[in-house]
Amino acid sequence: MLNDRNILLCVSGGIAAYKACALTSKLVQAGANVRVAMTASAEQFVGKATFQALSRNPIYSDVFEEHDPTKIAHIDVVDTSDLIVVAPATANIIAKLANGIADDFITTSILAAKCPVIVSPAMNVNMLEHPATRRNIETLKSYGYQIIEPGVGNLACGWIGGGRLPESEDLVRIIASQFVPKHLLEKHVLITAGPTVERIDPVRFLSNDSSGKMGVALAEAARDMGANVTLVHGPLQVPVPDGVTAIAVESGQQMLETVLERFATQDIVIKSAAVADYRPKTVHTEKHKKVHGPLTIELEETTDILKELGTKKTHQLLVGFAAETEQLEDHARAKLERKNVDFLVANDVSKRDIGFRSDDNEVVLFRADGSSVRLPRQSKQRLAHELLAYFKEGLR
Ligand code: PMT
Repeated sequence: MLNDRNILLCVSGGIAAYKACALTSKLVQAGANVRVAMTASAEQFVGKATFQALSRNPIYSDVFEEHDPTKIAHIDVVDTSDLIVVAPATANIIAKLANGIADDFITTSILAAKCPVIVSPAMNVNMLEHPATRRNIETLKSYGYQIIEPGVGNLACGWIGGGRLPESEDLVRIIASQFVPKHLLEKHVLITAGPTVERIDPVRFLSNDSSGKMGVALAEAARDMGANVTLVHGPLQVPVPDGVTAIAVESGQQMLETVLERFATQDIVIKSAAVADYRPKTVHTEKHKKVHGPLTIELEETTDILKELGTKKTHQLLVGFAAETEQLEDHARAKLERKNVDFLVANDVSKRDIGFRSDDNEVVLFRADGSSVRLPRQSKQRLAHELLAYFKEGLR
C-alpha cells in the first residue's frame, strides 16, 4: 500500500519526537519514500542525523538552506509529496497552521501544500484541552486536514490524560489507509460483529466465543474505502474503530430490531456476528437459586436475522457468514440458498488459528450463482479488504 509513496513527515518539538524515529523506520520498511522536516525545537529532542539515517534522505529544517539550486525546497517538497504527516504536532505548530503563520520550513511548506495533510497532536493534557488548542484543531479540520485523536495515558509531564502520540504501528495503519482506493464512496454499509448475549438471569447468560475481530476488520476496511459505516455489535474484545457509527446491543432480538430499523437505507449488509440460535424461554428477574440435582433450561428459537433480511431485501447486497465445523461446502451452500444472500463467507471454526478469536482467518467465498473462491489464511484486516473488493463488484 505504501510502496513508492512520497510522505513528508513533519516533526515538531515535543518529547514524542522520539516516537517519530520509529514511525520513520516503519514507513520506510513499508516501502514509502520518507522525507523528514523538523522544527528547531524538534532538533532539541532528536538529532537530524537519526532521521537522516532512518529515512536515507536529507533533512529539511531551514527554509533558506537549499539542497538543489534549481528548486525551491519548501515548495518542491510538498509538490512532490503524496501525503504530509505532522507527528508529533505541538500546540504551537497547530496554532501556526490554523492561523496561516509561515515562519519556518514546516509551516511555510504546509501553507503551499495541495496534497492531503494528517495532523497527530501530542502534548500535555491541559494544553490539549485549552479552548485555544481545541479551536485551532477545529480550524484545521475545516481546512480538510485529518486529525488523529491523541491517545490517553501517562504523559511525560507526569499528568495522566489525553495527549499521547499513538504508537507508530497505529500511525502507519492510518497513513496506509489514505491510499486505499475509495471504491465505496457514498455507499452505506452495515456490519454486525461479535457475539450476542442471551440472559438466563441477572448474572448468567448464553453466549459464544466471537471476539468481534472479523466484523471490526470489515468495518475498518469499508470505512477506509470511503463508505459510511454502521457497526452493530455485541460485546467486543477489540476497540470500536474511529470513524464508524457504532451501536452496542446485547441480545439477538436487539440486534434484529437495530438492523431492521436501518436496513432500507443500506447498500451492503454484512452479517459477521455470531448470533445465538436459541435463548432461554424464561429470563429470571432474580438470580436463579441452586437446585439439587440436574437443572433443565428450556430454550426457544431466536429469529434468524439474516433470513429475515433475505426476504426483505430490495437493492441491498446481502452477505452472510457461515461458521462450520464439518462439511463446510455443503452447509455453506445450503445457508446461501435458504437465507437468500448474495455472498456467503464460510469459515472452519474447528481450527484454533482461524475463525473465532484468532487474528487470522481463511474462508471460502460462495456466490449466489454457485461459483466460489478460496481465500487463504491471512490477517482478518487483509481478508476484509479482499472480501470487500468482491462485494463491491456485486453491487447493483
Ligand atoms: O468475531 P471473531 O472472533 O473474529 O470470529 C469471527 C466469526 C467466526 C464469528 C465469523 O467469521 C463468523 O463466522 N460469523 C458467523 C457466525 C455464525 O453465527 O454463523 P452461523 O453459521 O451460525 O450463521 C449463519 C449466518 O446467519 C451468519 O451470518 C449469522 O450472523 C446469521 N444468523 C444466525 C442466527 C441468527 N439467529 N441470526 C442470524 O442472522
